[in-house]
Amino acid sequence: MNEVSLLTKSVEETTALGEYFGRLAEKDLFIALSGDLGAGKTHFVQGLAKGMGISETVTSPTFTILNYYDGNLPLKHFDFYRLDDEEDLYNIGWEEYSIGGVIVAEWADRFPGLIPVDAFWIDIKRTGETDREISISWDDRAPETVAKEIEAYAACH
Ligand SMILES: Nc1ncnc2c1ncn2[C@@H]1O[C@H](COP(=O)(O)OP(=O)(O)O)[C@@H](O)[C@H]1O
Ligand SMILES: [Mg+2]
Repeated sequence: MNEVSLLTKSVEETTALGEYFGRLAEKDLFIALSGDLGAGKTHFVQGLAKGMGISETVTSPTFTILNYYDGNLPLKHFDFYRLDDEEDLYNIGWEEYSIGGVIVAEWADRFPGLIPVDAFWIDIKRTGETDREISISWDDRAPETVAKEIEAYAACH
């Protein structure tokens, strides 16, 4: 596993990181988010969508499990918080939706077996009122060009 971490001190800094990922997005980019309720996962996804050229308002798919947005690439936004078992996900079309475009899943650590090996894992920890520690990890099967850019971003943030 490769890992970098950085600190954000405001909502804007977290959405800026998401936006950076969004601008790097290539086909089949998978981002697995973890972190407690209120950590900032949904705000990260709002930045991600913006970076992908999506102007729609991004809200948490807590109850719908999946929100779909059309951007430069499709964005599939999952939230596993209320998901009881993988079966429910297959029933709403996981096999079809979990490939193609950018896929981001909140609470990915609840069902790690569903996350592809080439995913970027992003864990957000609340370390203060507006301080967050963000750890990004991936293995060598993740898209290399994205990995290089993330390393560069983390080095100056
Ligand atoms: N640095 C920060 N990054 C992200 N969110 C922050 C930060 N500082 C404060 N917040 C607040 O934390 C909350 C994060 O909410 P949200 O993104 O919905 O979290 P999650 O999806 O992880 O439950 C929001 O109320 C936001 O204003
Ligand atoms: Mg959320």
